[in-house]
Amino acid sequence: MVFSLLFCLSSVSSLPQIADKYRNLDDGVRAFLAKMEYRWRDMNVPETDGELLYDIVLEHKYRKALEIGTSTGRSGISIAWALSKTRGKLTTIEIDPGRYEEALANFQEAGLSEFIEARLADAHELVPELEGPFDFVFIDADKDWYTNYAQAVIPKIEAGGCIAAHNVYERRDGWGGYGGTGGFFEHMKSLPQFETRILAESRGGLSVSYKKKIS
Ligand SMILES: C[S@@+](CC[C@H](N)C(=O)[O-])C[C@H]1O[C@@H](n2cnc3c(N)ncnc32)[C@H](O)[C@@H]1O
Repeated sequence: MVFSLLFCLSSVSSLPQIADKYRNLDDGVRAFLAKMEYRWRDMNVPETDGELLYDIVLEHKYRKALEIGTSTGRSGISIAWALSKTRGKLTTIEIDPGRYEEALANFQEAGLSEFIEARLADAHELVPELEGPFDFVFIDADKDWYTNYAQAVIPKIEAGGCIAAHNVYERRDGWGGYGGTGGFFEHMKSLPQFETRILAESRGGLSVSYKKKIS
């Protein structure tokens, strides 16, 4: 009896305090990512590209993020982790119910649910309807629709904001063009209000297009 009372008291006193929440959140996310290291199976970004996304959001202090193509949540976790520090929020869209459910469970287990609004929807329909504004958009869904996604979000991107896109490879087969993403990269390069490039350090062909600030 005395033992169980003491056990209860020590358990209560070791519960995380609200003030500790964000310090503990980092530990929780790191532990989750370590557990998942060899378990991502659903076209998820490589770990290093997750780190690049995290760095971009944090460096620019982005707060209003949109992801097109949640899958089971690997990139969403990197983006939302950075947003937990900028006090931002991620809206992420997935069309496949199974992957959407798995992503929800992963966000929960990583401790990041409060920074994420996950939507089960066809992004072709939902993206044009979203109100914005956004300061960070990550496109990682159906490749042949990238240019359409970009055209739908460009009016909603704030100055200084970024459109990042995955699998935008420079083909080395002599045919030119950029992977399976159609004319997306060329389209972004042609827009004078954006600075567009592919990050050399990315393993998965991560392009970034920064909307210039008007000075
Ligand atoms: C490459 S995976 C995304 C990987 C994810 N960003 C990650 O790193 O964990 C692409 C995802 O886009 C989803 N997708 C494809 N077309 C879509 C659409 N029209 N609307 C919403 N999601 C779509 C697929 O079901 C798939 O789960």
